[in-house]
Amino acid sequence: MGVFSFVSLTLFAIGSAAIHVPYRKPWIDSETVNSFFGGKKWVVLVAGSDGWNNYRHQADICHAYQIIRENGIPKENIITMMVDDIANNPRNPTPGMIINQPNGKDVYKGVVIDYKGMDVNSTNFLKIITGDKKAMQSIGTGKVIEGGPHDKVFINFVDHGTTGILGFPDDLLYADELNDALKTMHASARYRMVLMYIEACKAGSMFDGILRDNTGVLAVTASGPRENSFGCYCRSQSGPYKTCLGDFFSVTWMENWDALVSESPKKKRTVFYDFNEARTSVTESNVMVYGDFRTGHETLSSFIGYKNRSKKHPSAEPVMTVTNKPKNTVMSSRTVYENSVQQELAGNELSVSERHHLSTELHLNNEMRLIIDKALRTIYSKVVKARPEIISKVGDFYEPNHLELSLDMFPCYKSILNKITESCFSLPRNPYALDRLTIFANFCVVDKHIHQLVEKLVSASCSNVHKLNIKNVY
Ligand SMILES: *[C@@H]1O[C@H](CO)[C@@H](O)[C@H](O)[C@H]1NC(C)=O
Ligand SMILES: *[C@@H]1O[C@H](CO)[C@@H](O)[C@H](O)[C@H]1NC(C)=O
Repeated sequence: MGVFSFVSLTLFAIGSAAIHVPYRKPWIDSETVNSFFGGKKWVVLVAGSDGWNNYRHQADICHAYQIIRENGIPKENIITMMVDDIANNPRNPTPGMIINQPNGKDVYKGVVIDYKGMDVNSTNFLKIITGDKKAMQSIGTGKVIEGGPHDKVFINFVDHGTTGILGFPDDLLYADELNDALKTMHASARYRMVLMYIEACKAGSMFDGILRDNTGVLAVTASGPRENSFGCYCRSQSGPYKTCLGDFFSVTWMENWDALVSESPKKKRTVFYDFNEARTSVTESNVMVYGDFRTGHETLSSFIGYKNRSKKHPSAEPVMTVTNKPKNTVMSSRTVYENSVQQELAGNELSVSERHHLSTELHLNNEMRLIIDKALRTIYSKVVKARPEIISKVGDFYEPNHLELSLDMFPCYKSILNKITESCFSLPRNPYALDRLTIFANFCVVDKHIHQLVEKLVSASCSNVHKLNIKNVY
C-alpha cells in the first residue's frame, strides 16, 4: 500500500470516442474502511412490469435475488418489489416456477417479495430508497433502506423505459424524481456509495447530463439514451414459455457472475471490470455508465457480497449451471409481444379456436397501435402548427431529434404526460405508447412553458380515443 499503481481502464463510448479512467489504488481500500465502521450492504430489486409478455423482468429479478442471497447478504437488507403474477400465471408451463435461461433452474424458489401487486409503484419505490419507514409502515412488509454513512446500496431495476422515464405497472418514474431521491439520500448521509444496474429501453436518458459525478452514485445502464434494450432467450430458445426468458444485459452480468467459480475473482472484480465485460458481450445495445467513477473502482462484491466457500458453506454451488448458451434469439423489448405471438401462430400446436383467438388479439393490438399513433401525431401536428418555429428543433413525430434532457424540463414533460393519461389512454398501461414520448420531451427541452399549449391540444384531440379505454397495447 502507498505505492501508486496506474491501470488505465478504457471504456468505449458510442462511436470512436473513448473514456479513459485512470485508476489509482486507494491508500486504504474501501472494504477495510467499511468493516472498520461496520458498513452494511443494502439491496433493492425491482421488476416494474406485470403480465406474461414481460416474464423476463421478474425472471431477471428473481435470479438477482438468488445471487444476492447466496452471496450472504441477510434477508433483512434485501428489499424486493415484483408484481408476482408470473409463477402462478395460467400461461406458465411449469407452474410455481420461474426460469431465467433455457432449461434453467427455478429462480423463484425462496424469493421473499416485500412489495407485490399494486404496491409495486414509483411512489413506494422512492420512499423505500429514501428510507421513509413511516410512510411504508402499513404497506407490504414495510421494509425500507435504513442506510448510514458507511453503507453501500445496490439497486437493480428491470422494466420498460423511455426518454427520461422508467415504467411501473400503473405509474411512471421520472429522472428528476429519482435524482431528487438520490440527493435526499446523500444529504441525510444514508449511504457511502450507490451502485445501480438499470435494464430498460433508453435507460441512459435517466442519467445522461443529470446524474452528478461527485456523490458516490454510479449507474450502469443496459442501453444508451436513445436505444432500446433487448430481451434474450426468446423464440425457439424459450420453448413452451413463448416469451423471452431474460433481458440481454441482466442475464449477461448475472451469468458472468455465476460463471466465477472460485472465491478470489468474485471478491476482487471491480464494478468497471464487470461493466467492461458486459459491454463487450451485449452486442445489441451499448451498455453505458454514468455518475461518480470512484464507485466504479470499488469491487462489485462490496455491493452484492460474494459467496464464502469456507467450511461453513460446503455445499455452495452456482445459482445457474453455466453452459454459455448463445443468446442468438434476442429481440428488441419493443417487439417481444408481436414476435412471440407470430411465432405461436407459425407453429402447429394451436387448436382452431386458439389460433383464432390469438390472431384476433394480435390484430386488435395492431389496430390500437394505429389509434395511439394517430392521437399522438394529431397532438404533435397541432402543436407545430401553432409553433412552426420549433419543428426544426424537435424533429419529426416518427424521427424525433436527439436532445439532451435537463432537470428543468421535467415539470413540463410530466404535466403533458399526465394530461395524455387522463384524456387519451394510460401511458404506463400501454408500453407501446412509451416509445412515442421522445417528441414530447423535446417540446419541453425547447420550451419549458409549452405544456399549457400542448395540454389544451391534448384535450381537443382525444375525446374519441378516451372512450375506447385502451389498455395493454405492446
Ligand atoms: C402506490 O401504492 C400505495 C399502496 O401501496 C398506494 O397508496 C398509492 O396510491 C399507489 N400509488 C399509485 C400511483 O398507484
Ligand atoms: C468466511 O467464512 C469464514 C469461516 O466461517 C470466516 O472466518 C470469514 O470471516 C468469512 N469471510 C467472509 C468474507 O464472510
